[in-house]
Amino acid sequence: MSSNLATKLREGTKKAHTMAENVGFVKCFLKGVVEPTSYRKLAANFYFVYSAMEEEMERHREHPIVSKIYFSELNRKASLEQDMRYYFGNNWREQIVLSPAGEAYVQRIREISNTAPELLIAHSYTRYLGDLSGGQILKNIAQRAMNLAEGEGTAFYEFEEITDEKAFKSQYRQTLDELPIDDATADRIVQEANDAFGLNMKMFNELEGNLIKAIGQMLFNSLTRRRTRGATELATAD
Ligand code: HEM
Repeated sequence: MSSNLATKLREGTKKAHTMAENVGFVKCFLKGVVEPTSYRKLAANFYFVYSAMEEEMERHREHPIVSKIYFSELNRKASLEQDMRYYFGNNWREQIVLSPAGEAYVQRIREISNTAPELLIAHSYTRYLGDLSGGQILKNIAQRAMNLAEGEGTAFYEFEEITDEKAFKSQYRQTLDELPIDDATADRIVQEANDAFGLNMKMFNELEGNLIKAIGQMLFNSLTRRRTRGATELATAD
């Protein structure tokens, strides 16, 4: 018996996906406008979010439903640790902070893990299927925009143990379809996936503020530099 969960998730989060694509920070990122401080903050938030998600998925490895969708090859915690070391240095653990939106995301993961662990599937779907879908494109954008050398700061995008991402996604979708769940549970998972998209958007929105501030600061600096240069040139001309 198929729960059709893969199709329900794809159809049921279509609107949320379009909304996520249209968040300012995401749109700027796709255009190659990547402010390194914002990027680092996002990567640090992801470190906390994936750590929580993977810890809770691991905790429910024997759960009759969650166990079926546990694929250790998807885990991102170790690769995010590598990226943290690259962006923040060896003492990265003391440097990184969880933003308020990141905190809400982590709290939600912990909460459902304690009360309705099958909803963790929604979080796994929202992040990992997204990562598998856009990973290489996003990696190339990050590399070009921040002048990163190959293999530096982009471990997050590399699924070393997955050779064929498309085939893996098909297998993941098939596993979703074969989960032993009823319609009401499937609906709750779709609802939770929409909430997961919302939590992601809130994290991006926080950074949009940073991005605007950074662009404003850059403009201000260049204007004041120009004005100072102008004044110096005038003074020299006198
Ligand atoms: C501008 C940003 C984005 C673009 C251009 C984009 C693009 C895509 C594309 C082309 C696919 C289809 C891949 C396929 O059919 O195999 C996809 C799937 C997906 N994306 Fe995104 N995406 C973006 C942002 C996001 C974000 C922010 C999230 C979640 C936080 C996300 C989550 C997903 C998920 C879960 C899927 C799998 C859909 C399914 O087949 O069920 N995406 N994305």
